[in-house]
Amino acid sequence: MSSPKPTIRPMTEHDIPRLADIRAGFVSPTVLTVEITGSGMEMGWRLVERKLIEPYDKGNRYDFDRTEQANIRTRMRQDGGLYLVVEQAGRLVGILDATPHEWNNTVWVWNLMLDKSVRRQGIGRALFCHAVGWARKLGYRALVFETQTNNVPACKFYARMGCQLDGLRTSHYTNNDRRHGEVALFWMYRLSGPHA
Ligand SMILES: CC(C)(COP(=O)(O)OP(=O)(O)OC[C@H]1O[C@@H](n2cnc3c(N)ncnc32)[C@H](O)[C@@H]1OP(=O)(O)O)[C@@H](O)C(=O)NCCC(=O)NCCS
Repeated sequence: MSSPKPTIRPMTEHDIPRLADIRAGFVSPTVLTVEITGSGMEMGWRLVERKLIEPYDKGNRYDFDRTEQANIRTRMRQDGGLYLVVEQAGRLVGILDATPHEWNNTVWVWNLMLDKSVRRQGIGRALFCHAVGWARKLGYRALVFETQTNNVPACKFYARMGCQLDGLRTSHYTNNDRRHGEVALFWMYRLSGPHA
């Protein structure tokens, strides 16, 4: 028997402990390496996709542990953001949560994650489109997504959704993220609006 179709609905506080069911890890056969040219004010960065000898496996480090659940609960009580879950047969299989940043009229997307079992079925696109519709209706000028150079599948997804790479930070997680092979990338999806 085939599994029931996953449905997207608003998240409630009761859902938060159940986020732990989502297996959000990924495996990437390639990585984006950051090549640096020049120095000082004339520094340049270039991303080059390279095949790995062993695919990179995130394991369970994207999963929603108690700390992450507490962070989401706090944000949900405070920020007037967008909170969605994907449910299938009584189990949570996806999340999108996003916070408006009034100071620069953008929306910061904290998580867009699906369980391994429901990927490549158009649900990521559906969540993305929900967020775009929500942000557009409220008049924000852009959505911002963060991912990493070792998550090439997500980079390909964001590029496919029409996002543009807006920049990177080589010391976002540690003082030398290039050495650790995980550099933060920031993707923008621009919307037309009063401050576009
Ligand atoms: C990234 C993620 C949200 C994509 O969701 P998804 O439901 O699998 O994506 P969709 O099926 O909606 O695909 C939308 C488009 O992106 C493309 N795409 C999705 N995953 C891709 C991949 N791994 N490689 C290349 N393209 C990909 C699809 O081909 C599709 O394009 P099409 O409609 O023209 O065919 C999902 O893979 C995921 O949850 N990954 C683990 C967590 C994660 O990395 N989250 C993101 C950032 S931190």
